[in-house]
Amino acid sequence: MTGKRSCLAIVLAAGGGTRMHSARAKVLNAIAGRSMLGHVLEAVRKAGGNGVAVVVGPEGAAVAAEAERALPNVEIFVQAERLGTAHAVLAATPVIARGPDDLLVIFGDTPLVRPQTLARMRAALADGAALVVLGFRPKDATGYGRLVLEGGTLVAIREELDASPAERAIALCNGGLMAFAGTTALAILERIGNANRKGEYYLTDAVAVARDMGLAAVVIETEEDEVRGINTKAQLAEAEAALQRRLRQAAMEAGATLVAPETVFLSADTKLGRDVVVEPFVVFGPGVTVEDDAVIRSFSHLDRAHVGRGAQVGPYARLRPGTRLHDDVHIGNFVEVKEAVIEAGAKANHLSYIGDATVGAGANVGAGTITCNYDGVAKHRTEIGKGAFIGSNSALVAPVKIGDGAYIGSGSVITADVPADALAVARARQSVKRGTLGAFPPPLAGEG
Ligand code: UD1
Ligand code: CA
Repeated sequence: MTGKRSCLAIVLAAGGGTRMHSARAKVLNAIAGRSMLGHVLEAVRKAGGNGVAVVVGPEGAAVAAEAERALPNVEIFVQAERLGTAHAVLAATPVIARGPDDLLVIFGDTPLVRPQTLARMRAALADGAALVVLGFRPKDATGYGRLVLEGGTLVAIREELDASPAERAIALCNGGLMAFAGTTALAILERIGNANRKGEYYLTDAVAVARDMGLAAVVIETEEDEVRGINTKAQLAEAEAALQRRLRQAAMEAGATLVAPETVFLSADTKLGRDVVVEPFVVFGPGVTVEDDAVIRSFSHLDRAHVGRGAQVGPYARLRPGTRLHDDVHIGNFVEVKEAVIEAGAKANHLSYIGDATVGAGANVGAGTITCNYDGVAKHRTEIGKGAFIGSNSALVAPVKIGDGAYIGSGSVITADVPADALAVARARQSVKRGTLGAFPPPLAGEG
C-alpha cells in the first residue's frame, strides 16, 4: 500500500529553451492550452504527494511564477549553474533531507505523465526497491538514455553521447522519471560524479551508483505517449497530438459526441457535458465549459467561455474570454462575443460583435449589430433588456441601455438610452425624388 507513505516530488525545470529556438524557458511552452510545467504539477497533485519542489534556473522567475500559479504551496529552489539533472535534484536537498518515504523526480519537459503511473512507481518502492526507473520503447530512440540490463536486472543507464554502438541498439529507453526510497536517496545522489562526455552530473547514473551500494533498482515500463520528452518544437507538436487523442477519447467517454474527433482541438481543462455535439473543425481554448445538449457547429473558436444547456453556437462563431451564454441561446455565423452575458433564449444569429454587454432573456440581436464598446481610451458597457429587438445593422454606442421590450429600427446609431417598450430610430430619413435621373448632375439627396 502506498497510501500511508509520505511522498515528495521534485520537478526539474531549469532553462532549456535553446534547442527549442525559443526565448522563454522550455517548460513554459504549452500543449492543450496549459504549460508543460502545469501538466506535470497537475499529475503530481492528482497523485497525492505531501509536497512539491520545483527546481528553476537563475533566470527562472517566470517558471517559478507559473509553478506557484499551478500549485500554490510549491517550494522553489534555484539551480545556479546548469550542471546536469542530478545536480538539479540536489538543489532541492532540504526537501530530500526531510526524509520522505518516497521521493519522485520528474522532468518538467515530460508533460504527459499520468498520476496512475506515479502511483505504480511508488508501489514498487513500497515493495522494497531503492530506485525505480520508468522505461519505454520509443519508435525513434534518438536523444534518450538507454537502459542496460544484465540477466533481467537494470545495471546502468547510458546517455546516448556516451553509449557504445551496441548500447545504442538497445530499444528500452529512459523515460526520465525516477522514484527513490527516501532513506537512501541522498546517499545515492551525492555519489554521482560527472565523468562523461558532457561533464554533467547525470541523474541516470543513480542506477549504477545504487548497484555499487548493493541497492535494488527496478524498471517499470509504460507507453511512449506518456513519457515523450520534449526537446524540440517538433516534439512539442507530437506531444500535442498525443494529448489531443487522449482528451478527445475522454470527452467521448464522458458523453459528448465528436462528429470528427481528429478535427476538434481541446484544452486540458475543456468540459463538455452529456450529449453535447461538436461538429468538425472546432477549437476550444482554455477555460471552456459546455453544458449538456448544446451544439457547437463547425469552424467555431471558443476561449474562456461558458455555453449553457441546449445553446447553439456557430458555424463560424467566436466566443472570447468572459462570454457566458445561458440556456438555449443561439449565437450564429460570424458572431463574436466577448465579456458578455447572454441570457436564456436570446439570439444573435448573424454577423455581429457583442462586447462588454448584457443581453436580456429572449432578446433578438439583428444581423450586423455592433456594440461600439471602445471609444479609443476606455471600454464601456451595453445593456440590452429582456425581449428587446435590435434591428439589423444597428450600432449601439456604449455606454448605453436598451430597456426591456424596446425596439430599435434597422440601421440606427443609438447613442442615448432607450426606455422599456419604446421604439427608437436613429438614422437619416429616406427621401425619394421622382424624374431626376435624366438630369446631370442629379440633385443631392436631402436637397430642397
Ligand atoms: C534526459 C535523461 C535521458 C532521458 C530523457 C527523457 C539525463 C542525464 N538524461 O535527457 O536519460 O532518456 O531525459 O526525456 O537525465 N534540467 C535541469 N537542470 C540541468 C539539466 C536539466 O533542471 O542542469 C531539467 C531540464 O529543464 C529538463 C529536464 O531536467 O526539464 C531534463 O533535461 P534535458 O536536458 O531535457 O535531458 P535530456 O537530454 O532530454
Ligand atoms: Ca529532455
